[in-house]
Amino acid sequence: STITVAVFVGSLRKESINRRLAKAIEKLAPSSLAFEPVEIGDLPLYTQEFDGSYPSQGQRLKDQVKAADALLFVTPEYNRSIPGVLKNAIDIGSRPWGTNSFAGKRAAVIGASPGAIGSALAQQHLRNVLSYLDVDTLPQPEVFVQFKEGLVEADGTITSDGTRTFLQGFVDRFAAWVGATR
Ligand code: FNR
Repeated sequence: STITVAVFVGSLRKESINRRLAKAIEKLAPSSLAFEPVEIGDLPLYTQEFDGSYPSQGQRLKDQVKAADALLFVTPEYNRSIPGVLKNAIDIGSRPWGTNSFAGKRAAVIGASPGAIGSALAQQHLRNVLSYLDVDTLPQPEVFVQFKEGLVEADGTITSDGTRTFLQGFVDRFAAWVGATR
Protein backbone atom coordinates (compact mmCIF):
# COMPACT_ATOMS: atom_id res chain seq x y z
CA SER A 1 0.00 0.00 0.00
CA THR A 2 1.03 3.62 -0.47
CA ILE A 3 3.03 5.34 2.23
CA THR A 4 2.52 9.10 2.35
CA VAL A 5 5.53 11.26 3.14
CA ALA A 6 4.88 14.88 4.12
CA VAL A 7 7.84 16.93 2.87
CA PHE A 8 9.02 20.07 4.67
CA VAL A 9 11.41 22.21 2.63
CA GLY A 10 12.99 24.79 4.94
CA SER A 11 13.30 27.47 2.25
CA LEU A 12 10.65 29.65 0.62
CA ARG A 13 12.97 30.57 -2.25
CA LYS A 14 11.74 29.65 -5.71
CA GLU A 15 15.21 28.56 -6.86
CA SER A 16 15.93 26.77 -3.58
CA ILE A 17 18.64 24.13 -3.85
CA ASN A 18 16.88 22.28 -1.05
CA ARG A 19 13.65 22.13 -3.05
CA ARG A 20 15.70 20.71 -5.91
CA LEU A 21 17.19 18.15 -3.56
CA ALA A 22 13.68 17.19 -2.42
CA LYS A 23 12.69 16.70 -6.06
CA ALA A 24 15.74 14.54 -6.68
CA ILE A 25 14.84 12.34 -3.71
CA GLU A 26 11.30 11.96 -5.00
CA LYS A 27 12.62 10.84 -8.39
CA LEU A 28 14.79 8.16 -6.82
CA ALA A 29 12.04 6.81 -4.57
CA PRO A 30 9.90 3.73 -5.20
CA SER A 31 6.33 4.42 -6.40
CA SER A 32 4.97 3.09 -3.11
CA LEU A 33 6.08 6.37 -1.48
CA ALA A 34 3.76 9.33 -2.16
CA PHE A 35 5.47 12.66 -1.41
CA GLU A 36 3.26 15.58 -0.43
CA PRO A 37 4.73 19.06 -0.04
CA VAL A 38 3.84 20.86 3.19
CA GLU A 39 3.06 24.55 2.64
CA ILE A 40 4.88 26.63 5.25
CA GLY A 41 5.07 29.99 3.45
CA ASP A 42 1.53 31.15 4.27
CA LEU A 43 1.59 30.30 7.98
CA PRO A 44 1.17 33.17 10.41
CA LEU A 45 3.95 33.68 12.95
CA TYR A 46 3.10 31.50 15.91
CA THR A 47 1.81 33.11 19.09
CA GLN A 48 0.48 31.24 22.07
CA GLU A 49 -2.76 33.17 21.61
CA PHE A 50 -3.47 30.78 18.71
CA ASP A 51 -3.97 27.99 21.20
CA GLY A 52 -7.48 29.28 22.02
CA SER A 53 -8.54 29.40 18.36
CA TYR A 54 -6.17 27.91 15.81
CA PRO A 55 -5.59 29.65 12.43
CA SER A 56 -6.86 27.61 9.48
CA GLN A 57 -3.41 27.36 7.84
CA GLY A 58 -2.05 25.95 11.09
CA GLN A 59 -4.87 23.44 11.36
CA ARG A 60 -4.25 22.42 7.73
CA LEU A 61 -0.59 21.72 8.53
CA LYS A 62 -1.52 19.76 11.65
CA ASP A 63 -4.05 17.65 9.74
CA GLN A 64 -1.55 16.93 6.97
CA VAL A 65 1.16 15.90 9.41
CA LYS A 66 -1.21 13.73 11.41
CA ALA A 67 -2.43 11.96 8.26
CA ALA A 68 1.08 11.34 6.91
CA ASP A 69 2.82 8.02 7.47
CA ALA A 70 6.27 9.63 7.53
CA LEU A 71 8.05 12.96 7.26
CA LEU A 72 10.98 14.24 5.23
CA PHE A 73 12.77 17.47 6.18
CA VAL A 74 15.01 19.04 3.55
CA THR A 75 16.55 22.13 5.04
CA PRO A 76 19.11 24.83 4.41
CA GLU A 77 21.26 26.18 7.22
CA TYR A 78 20.74 29.80 8.28
CA ASN A 79 23.37 31.10 10.69
CA ARG A 80 24.21 27.59 11.89
CA SER A 81 20.60 26.61 12.59
CA ILE A 82 17.34 25.98 10.75
CA PRO A 83 15.55 28.89 9.03
CA GLY A 84 12.93 30.67 11.14
CA VAL A 85 10.18 29.73 8.66
CA LEU A 86 10.79 26.06 9.33
CA LYS A 87 10.92 26.49 13.11
CA ASN A 88 7.67 28.46 12.94
CA ALA A 89 6.00 25.62 11.03
CA ILE A 90 7.22 23.06 13.55
CA ASP A 91 6.06 25.19 16.48
CA ILE A 92 2.63 25.49 14.87
CA GLY A 93 2.40 21.74 14.29
CA SER A 94 3.36 21.04 17.89
CA ARG A 95 0.57 23.08 19.50
CA PRO A 96 -1.98 23.62 21.10
CA TRP A 97 -0.50 21.88 24.12
CA GLY A 98 -1.44 18.21 24.18
CA THR A 99 -2.07 18.02 20.42
CA ASN A 100 1.49 17.64 19.08
CA SER A 101 0.82 16.44 15.53
CA PHE A 102 4.37 15.11 15.12
CA ALA A 103 4.21 12.59 17.96
CA GLY A 104 5.14 9.05 17.00
CA LYS A 105 6.14 9.84 13.41
CA ARG A 106 9.24 8.66 11.61
CA ALA A 107 11.29 11.26 9.77
CA ALA A 108 14.47 11.80 7.83
CA VAL A 109 16.50 15.00 7.92
CA ILE A 110 18.66 16.01 4.95
CA GLY A 111 19.91 19.24 3.44
CA ALA A 112 22.11 21.11 1.03
CA SER A 113 24.38 24.13 1.23
CA PRO A 114 27.00 25.67 -1.04
CA GLY A 115 29.29 25.51 1.99
CA ALA A 116 31.66 22.66 2.76
CA ILE A 117 29.79 21.27 5.77
CA GLY A 118 26.51 21.24 3.85
CA SER A 119 23.91 22.19 6.50
CA ALA A 120 25.21 19.74 9.10
CA LEU A 121 24.71 22.06 12.08
CA ALA A 122 21.16 22.98 11.05
CA GLN A 123 20.35 19.30 10.70
CA GLN A 124 21.74 18.53 14.12
CA HIS A 125 19.63 21.31 15.67
CA LEU A 126 16.58 19.98 13.84
CA ARG A 127 17.16 16.45 15.12
CA ASN A 128 17.19 17.86 18.63
CA VAL A 129 13.85 19.64 18.13
CA LEU A 130 12.26 16.59 16.53
CA SER A 131 13.48 14.34 19.31
CA TYR A 132 11.68 16.52 21.84
CA LEU A 133 8.53 16.27 19.71
CA ASP A 134 8.67 12.46 19.90
CA VAL A 135 9.76 12.02 16.27
CA ASP A 136 12.10 9.16 15.43
CA THR A 137 14.74 10.38 12.97
CA LEU A 138 16.63 8.03 10.66
CA PRO A 139 20.16 8.04 12.12
CA GLN A 140 22.08 6.95 9.01
CA PRO A 141 23.02 7.73 6.36
CA GLU A 142 23.47 11.43 7.09
CA VAL A 143 23.02 13.53 3.96
CA PHE A 144 25.02 16.77 3.85
CA VAL A 145 24.98 17.80 0.21
CA GLN A 146 27.54 20.39 -0.83
CA PHE A 147 25.68 21.99 -3.67
CA LYS A 148 27.62 23.05 -6.75
CA GLU A 149 25.91 24.83 -9.65
CA GLY A 150 24.26 22.22 -11.90
CA LEU A 151 24.50 19.32 -9.44
CA VAL A 152 20.72 18.88 -9.52
CA GLU A 153 18.67 20.19 -12.44
CA ALA A 154 15.36 22.00 -11.94
CA ASP A 155 13.39 18.78 -12.56
CA GLY A 156 15.38 16.89 -9.94
CA THR A 157 17.83 15.14 -12.27
CA ILE A 158 21.17 14.52 -10.55
CA THR A 159 24.15 15.16 -12.83
CA SER A 160 26.85 13.49 -10.71
CA ASP A 161 27.00 9.67 -10.65
CA GLY A 162 28.58 9.65 -7.20
CA THR A 163 25.89 11.90 -5.72
CA ARG A 164 23.11 9.89 -7.38
CA THR A 165 24.46 6.61 -6.02
CA PHE A 166 24.82 8.09 -2.55
CA LEU A 167 21.31 9.57 -2.54
CA GLN A 168 19.86 6.32 -3.89
CA GLY A 169 21.37 4.59 -0.88
CA PHE A 170 19.69 7.10 1.41
CA VAL A 171 16.32 6.73 -0.34
CA ASP A 172 16.43 2.91 -0.17
CA ARG A 173 17.21 3.00 3.53
CA PHE A 174 14.50 5.61 4.22
CA ALA A 175 11.90 3.65 2.21
CA ALA A 176 12.63 0.43 4.06
CA TRP A 177 12.54 2.21 7.41
CA VAL A 178 9.19 3.96 6.89
CA GLY A 179 7.69 0.86 5.27
CA ALA A 180 8.40 -1.09 8.41
CA THR A 181 5.95 1.11 10.35
CA ARG A 182 2.95 -0.20 8.44
C1 FNR B 1 22.91 31.36 4.70
N1 FNR B 1 23.72 30.35 4.19
C2 FNR B 1 24.38 29.51 5.08
N2 FNR B 1 24.99 28.34 4.63
C3 FNR B 1 25.57 27.50 5.52
O1 FNR B 1 26.08 26.46 5.12
N3 FNR B 1 25.60 27.78 6.85
C4 FNR B 1 25.00 28.91 7.36
O2 FNR B 1 25.02 29.11 8.56
C5 FNR B 1 24.38 29.81 6.47
N4 FNR B 1 23.77 30.93 6.91
C6 FNR B 1 22.94 31.65 6.09
C7 FNR B 1 22.10 32.64 6.61
C8 FNR B 1 21.22 33.31 5.81
C9 FNR B 1 20.29 34.34 6.40
C10 FNR B 1 21.18 33.01 4.41
C11 FNR B 1 20.20 33.74 3.49
C12 FNR B 1 22.00 32.07 3.88
C13 FNR B 1 23.78 30.08 2.73
C14 FNR B 1 22.72 29.09 2.33
O3 FNR B 1 23.20 27.78 2.51
C15 FNR B 1 22.38 29.29 0.84
O4 FNR B 1 21.83 30.60 0.66
C16 FNR B 1 21.40 28.24 0.34
O5 FNR B 1 21.26 28.36 -1.06
C17 FNR B 1 20.04 28.39 0.99
O6 FNR B 1 19.22 27.28 0.69
P1 FNR B 1 18.08 27.33 -0.45
O7 FNR B 1 17.20 28.51 -0.18
O8 FNR B 1 18.81 27.46 -1.76
O9 FNR B 1 17.39 26.03 -0.32
